[in-house]
Amino acid sequence: MKFTLAAFTAILAPAAATVYFKEQFNDDGWKERWTVPSDWKPASELGDWAHTAGEFNGGSSDDRGIQTSQDARFYGLSAPLEKPFASADKKDLVIQYSVKHEQKIDCGGAYIKLLPGGKGFDSAKFGGDTPYAVMFGPDICGSSNKRTHVILHSNTKDENLLIKKNVNTEDNQLSHLYTLVIRPDNTFEVFIDNKSVRSGKLEDEFDFLLPKEIKDPEKSKPKDWVDEKRIPDPDDVKPEGYDDIPSEIPDPDASKPDDWDDEDDGEWEPPMIDNPDYKGPWKPKMIDNPDYKGPWEHPMIPNPEYIYDSEMYAVCKEECTHVGFELWQVKSGTIFDDIIVTDSLEEAQQFAEETFFKKKDKEKELFDDAKKKKEEEEKAAREAEMEDMEDEEDFMGGDEF
Ligand SMILES: *[C@@H]1O[C@H](CO)[C@@H](O)[C@H](O)[C@H]1NC(C)=O
Repeated sequence: MKFTLAAFTAILAPAAATVYFKEQFNDDGWKERWTVPSDWKPASELGDWAHTAGEFNGGSSDDRGIQTSQDARFYGLSAPLEKPFASADKKDLVIQYSVKHEQKIDCGGAYIKLLPGGKGFDSAKFGGDTPYAVMFGPDICGSSNKRTHVILHSNTKDENLLIKKNVNTEDNQLSHLYTLVIRPDNTFEVFIDNKSVRSGKLEDEFDFLLPKEIKDPEKSKPKDWVDEKRIPDPDDVKPEGYDDIPSEIPDPDASKPDDWDDEDDGEWEPPMIDNPDYKGPWKPKMIDNPDYKGPWEHPMIPNPEYIYDSEMYAVCKEECTHVGFELWQVKSGTIFDDIIVTDSLEEAQQFAEETFFKKKDKEKELFDDAKKKKEEEEKAAREAEMEDMEDEEDFMGGDEF
């Protein structure tokens, strides 16, 4: 066989990626693809989604996203995947989307959910109680409560497992790209703006498994175990006369006032002061305990209940069929855009280059310009106010009676 260039490229080319879902919200047809739940919250509590290019948009004016538009509301929305994702296929699961808190967010969720449910999924009822496979993305409330949620459903435990150590999040007004990868080798990785911010084994960062070792229940700390590191010196003795030292003495620097009258005022006594020689109740000095054995360590044994779960990654054991947002926002204005669910990180990165990265620098530039303009306006307003005040002072100063 001749080694042709075509054959060579075929070997090098990665297997074609599958895209399960892609949404850029640029056309008006998004309303047909997505469903706002009618049966989750009373209509008065549900906020409207706006379809907008937003402020300081680095793309073209028809490059729009969807935006939460009313303060202190719940937001619900879901859409079916173009193709269900099944963990049984043993493929990487990649979820990526962009979030822009244009409003200077103080409190609000901005995470996306990947949903199982198949034919049973009820988009009218979709809300906070709907089971999910993955919950991923920013959640912010105040300056101390900020994180990128990574919550995975364990089918073995039938529980939603939060990542144990917080993943930071971005809370400025610019767009940021959030990417989660879950791999069939039971590892995961989180990227923000294409930078890896967390990666590891699922078993290390989530409570998928019981501990491998437990404290031996048969063993306990021996009664005669010495864990006092320091003890009072048994050879130390109280110096003679120690207890005779008074805690207070008459002030040697005080003297009887000249106008003191012994007859009227009684016999003069100097005021009392703390005795500098008084050292408090006697205590023997402390020494290292010669019998100290160190802290007792409970011997560990293999946990008889430990079993390895090779299917931690299988969040879509029951096929995942939808993506959705169900959020609460105190201050609205978050824009979501450029969602992709695929089995290839490269595919997601490629999509990011065509979307997020294409707009990023221009967006920053427009944002900085707008900020500068606002600062200049504020400065001009302050100066005008100062001038007014000075004029007023001149007027007052001249107003003499
Ligand atoms: C995203 O990261 C990958 C490496 O993980 C890199 O190859 C790619 O160039 C990055 N994309 C951008 C636009 O920075």
